[in-house]
Amino acid sequence: MWKLYHGWYILATLLPALAGSTTTQQVLGDVSQCGRPNVVFILTDDQDAHLGSLEYMPFVRKHLLDEGTYFNKHYCTTAVCCPSRATLWTGKASHNTNITDVNPPYGGYPKFVDQGFNENYLPVWLQQAGYNSYYTGKLFNVHTVTNYNSPEPAGFTNYDFLLDPFTYNYLNSTFQRKGENPKSYEGYYSTDVMSQKAQSLLQDAVLAEEPFFLTIAPIAPHGNIVMNGSALDKNPVFEHSAPIPAKRHELLFGDVQVPRSANFNPGKPSGANWVLDLPQQTQENVEYNDHYHRQRIRSLQAVDELVDDIFAKLEEYGILENTYVFYSSDNGFHIGQHRLQPGKSCGYEEDINIPLIVRGPGVAANQTTEIVTTHTDLAPTFFDILGIPTREDFDGNAIPITPDGINEASQRRREHVAVEYWGYAGGEGIFDRTLHENNTYKAIRISGDGYKFYYSIWCNNEHELYDMDTDPGQMNNLLSVPSSMDTTKSSPSAAIIVAGYPLNKIVSRLDSLLLVLKSCKGAVCREPWKALHPKRDVNTLKEALSSKFDDFYQEQQTRVAFDYCWNGYVPEAEGSMWEKDGLFFRDGLPWHVWT
Ligand SMILES: *[C@@H]1O[C@H](CO)[C@@H](O)[C@H](O)[C@H]1NC(C)=O
Ligand SMILES: *[C@@H]1O[C@H](CO)[C@@H](O)[C@H](O)[C@H]1NC(C)=O
Ligand SMILES: *[C@@H]1O[C@H](CO)[C@@H](O)[C@H](O)[C@H]1NC(C)=O
Ligand SMILES: *[C@@H]1O[C@H](CO)[C@@H](O)[C@H](O)[C@H]1NC(C)=O
Ligand SMILES: *[C@@H]1O[C@H](CO)[C@@H](O)[C@H](O)[C@H]1NC(C)=O
Repeated sequence: MWKLYHGWYILATLLPALAGSTTTQQVLGDVSQCGRPNVVFILTDDQDAHLGSLEYMPFVRKHLLDEGTYFNKHYCTTAVCCPSRATLWTGKASHNTNITDVNPPYGGYPKFVDQGFNENYLPVWLQQAGYNSYYTGKLFNVHTVTNYNSPEPAGFTNYDFLLDPFTYNYLNSTFQRKGENPKSYEGYYSTDVMSQKAQSLLQDAVLAEEPFFLTIAPIAPHGNIVMNGSALDKNPVFEHSAPIPAKRHELLFGDVQVPRSANFNPGKPSGANWVLDLPQQTQENVEYNDHYHRQRIRSLQAVDELVDDIFAKLEEYGILENTYVFYSSDNGFHIGQHRLQPGKSCGYEEDINIPLIVRGPGVAANQTTEIVTTHTDLAPTFFDILGIPTREDFDGNAIPITPDGINEASQRRREHVAVEYWGYAGGEGIFDRTLHENNTYKAIRISGDGYKFYYSIWCNNEHELYDMDTDPGQMNNLLSVPSSMDTTKSSPSAAIIVAGYPLNKIVSRLDSLLLVLKSCKGAVCREPWKALHPKRDVNTLKEALSSKFDDFYQEQQTRVAFDYCWNGYVPEAEGSMWEKDGLFFRDGLPWHVWT
C-alpha cells in the first residue's frame, strides 16, 4: 500500500524502518534513558478548547491527557495562524515580531524572512544547542511552491513542509522534503501522508543518535481551502469549505452539534464593534454550522490516529520515557458564539483559550492545572526543559511542567495574557463571507485570586469588560456605552461593583497594565507590574487595587486609545505607548538604568 503515496519515496523511507528496527532499538538502548531528552510537538490548526473537540480524540486522551498534564488556562496571544506560529517559534508577542497577518505586507513567510527571523528562531537555537530539529506540516502561510527555497527555512536537520497554495487542500497537498523538489500528493489524504512523513522523520532522528525536536503540524481541523495561487500571485481565488475528513471517518458523529452554550447564536447581540452588529443566524445557517463542527471532529480522527502511531513508535524505539510530547493548536475557533460564522481572529474565549497538553519525564499524569500560560511561553519552556540558557528577549516565562513547579507557580505566576490583533476577520463557512475590517484590538485576559476578567479596547476605542466568573460566555459587556458610564465624566461608574471592586478602579488598573503590555519587550512583558511599580511592591491586580494607588491609576496615567484603525502594526495608529512616552521605561529598560 505504500505505493499509493508516490511509490518511490515512501518505499525508500519506510523499508529501513521495517528492516532495521532492532538495530535502532539496540543503539537507543545505550543512550535513550540517560541522554538529553527529546521533544515531539504536535501542533494542530484552529483546534478549540471550548467546543469539545478533544472529547472525540480517544488516543489523545489515552496517551496525553491520561498520562500528562492539561493546561486549562493556556492562551494564544494573536488568534490567527501565521502570527501565532511566529510567536511560537520566536517566543515573542506579535507586536515584537511584527508578523501580524497571514499575508504580506504584514505577515506570511516573506515577512518572517524580512524581519530577520530565519536566522534567529527556535530551530536555529535548538541546533546551536546541539539538538537535531525536524518538522513536517505547515510552517507558515505564503511558504509556497515558488519561494520555498528562497531562502530555505533555516535550522532544520530535515523537514517535509506543506506548501501553499496546497497547504489547506485536504485532498491535493504538496509537500517538500529538504533538498528535493515539491511533490504533489493529489488524491491522498493530507493528514495520512503527513503521518507517514512524521514516522520517517522520527526514524531519521532516532538513527542520528542525537537528541531531537520534532514538530508535526497537521492542518486539521482547519477548513478546506482550494486556492488557484498564493498571496504572491495575481488575483488568487481562495475557496473555503468545511474541513474534509478521511473517507473512513466521514460518517462518524452524525448526531453531534455545536454545544448550545449561553453565547451560542444568542437572541440579543453581544460583543462590540462589528460583532455587535451581526444578525442572529437562521436555522439553515445553524444546521450548516453543526455540519461544519462535525467535519472538524471527523477531520481530527486522522490526527488522533497519527498521535497513536507516533506513541507506538516512541515506545518501539525505547525513547518514550525520555521524550516530552506537547500537544497544542495555533489558535482556537468559534462557531456561532456571539452569532459569529465559523472562524477565529476574535479575542473571545473560544478563539484564544486553546488546548495545551504536556507529557514527559516528571510530568504528572491525568492532571489539570489552572496556572496562566500562553504561546509566548512555549519557546522559553522548551529552552528550560532542554537545559538551554534562556534569552532575555523572550516575552514569556517558562511554563513549569512538574507538580512541584506547578504548585509553586500557582502562588506566584503572572495572572495575565496580553492579547492583540490587527486587520480583518472573516467567516470560513458558506454563509456571510463578509470581510470585517478594523478587527484591530488589544486586550487583557486576567485570572487571579478572586477575579477573572477580559478587558479589550478596539481601534475605534470601543471598550469591553467581562466578569468571566459570572459571565463566562462574555454576554454582558460591563463597558457598553452609555449604561456603565458615569455620564458626568464619561468614565466607568464607581457605583457598579464587580468581583467586589468598583468598576472604575478595576478599569483604571487594567488600562494601565494594557498600556504597558501593548508595547512591552522581554522582561517588561513578563513582569509588567514592575514597570508601573519600580519599588516592586505590586505583582498582582489585587495588590494594584489597593486604595493607596487610586490617585496613581485613576488620575495620573495616560489611557490606552487608538488614533485610528490600521491593518498592521503602525505605531502612529496606536496612541500613547509606554516606551514611546518614556514614562518609566525606554527600550525595555527600567528608568533607573537609563536615567
Ligand atoms: C483520571 O482522574 C480522574 C479523576 O480525577 C479519574 O476518574 C480517572 O479514572 C483518571 N484516569 C486515569 C486513566 O487514571
Ligand atoms: C490539484 O491541484 C492541481 C494544481 O492546481 C490541479 O491541476 C488539479 O486539478 C487538482 N486536483 C484535484 C483532485 O483537485
Ligand atoms: C485565479 O482565478 C481568478 C478567477 O478566475 C483569476 O482572475 C486569477 O487570475 C486566477 N489567479 C491565478 C494566480 O491563477
Ligand atoms: C475603519 O477604520 C477607519 C480608520 O479608523 C475608518 O476610516 C473606516 O470608516 C472604518 N471602517 C469601518 C467599516 O468601520
Ligand atoms: C511593521 O511592519 C509594517 C509593514 O512593513 C511597517 O509599516 C511598520 O512600521 C512595522 N512596525 C514596526 C513597529 O516596526
